[in-house]
Amino acid sequence: VKEERKLVIGFSQCVSNDAWREAMHEEMYRELSFYPSLDLVIKDAGGDSKVQIENIKAFQEMGVDLLIVSPNESAPITGVVEEVFQSGIPVIVVDRNINSSQFSAYIGGDSFEIGKTVGQYILNTYPNDHRILEIWGLKGSSPAKERHQGLRSTIDGSDHYIKYQIDGEWEREVAKERFREFLKSNQDAQFDIVFCHNDVMAISASEVCKEFGLVDVKILGIDALPGPRAGLQAVSDGVLDATFFYPTGGDKAIEVAWKILSNDSFEKLNFMQTAPVDFTNIRVIKQQTDRIINQQANIIRQSEMIASQVKIYNNQRGLLIVFGMT
Ligand code: FRU
Repeated sequence: VKEERKLVIGFSQCVSNDAWREAMHEEMYRELSFYPSLDLVIKDAGGDSKVQIENIKAFQEMGVDLLIVSPNESAPITGVVEEVFQSGIPVIVVDRNINSSQFSAYIGGDSFEIGKTVGQYILNTYPNDHRILEIWGLKGSSPAKERHQGLRSTIDGSDHYIKYQIDGEWEREVAKERFREFLKSNQDAQFDIVFCHNDVMAISASEVCKEFGLVDVKILGIDALPGPRAGLQAVSDGVLDATFFYPTGGDKAIEVAWKILSNDSFEKLNFMQTAPVDFTNIRVIKQQTDRIINQQANIIRQSEMIASQVKIYNNQRGLLIVFGMT
């Protein structure tokens, strides 16, 4: 019997040392189990745009059937993605964007919209806390720029303003070190709100505030990931005052990849929704996400049980054939 060739998806991931990216990969593999003819190969650039360019070129040379890419930074990655797209390989951009519309589909949260939602939340919830310290994600990556611009678009013209800005590069340790340094060298700095472009930096910021005795400062992050040490738990524990959902879109990326590869129709731009999470809704949201996590674990257990039953069935069938009983 001629075995059918599997279709190969190459996923160029910008970095993968954090829970958000791990969640993205898990979603992708879960969705992949519905499409047995798809194979996924992930290459991690470790947060280095040069490595990512090499990874994308390697995928092109391998002759992947479709490329998924989450660009570390927009500008350096744009050219090579355009090249792959022009060579006829379909391209799905996830989460971070490039500086061009030369791709088949985009999937991810709308970071400008998230920044706007953060701004509205601040205006409504903290009308008297005007001074914001902003801890940025990597400056060359699109969500960092868009989250900043979205926030500005709501607070500009109000009494609220961004008084200080720190580069945290999306990283827990970088944010922690730079924020500490900032507080040491600006001992009279005064601010009411720390807005971080993601939750891992926000959790770091909260630890630093504690070290420096800044107990009244409000701390906001983005991602709202379930699981230990992640955003939802941090809001539940009072470590963060609020976070905002930023879905990974991992399952959707595989779903759209399948549509493209099977010549089905698909949307080019797929933005996922955000919403604030704070003390007013954290209990119900945590209950729901805990239920989902349990159900997912059950689904995995069920499919393992089905696989072992199928194995037993095949073995028994093999025996019947050997003894000529079929
Ligand atoms: C994970 C991450 C998220 C953030 C996203 C932006 O690597 O830093 O925390 O929301 O990337 O691209």
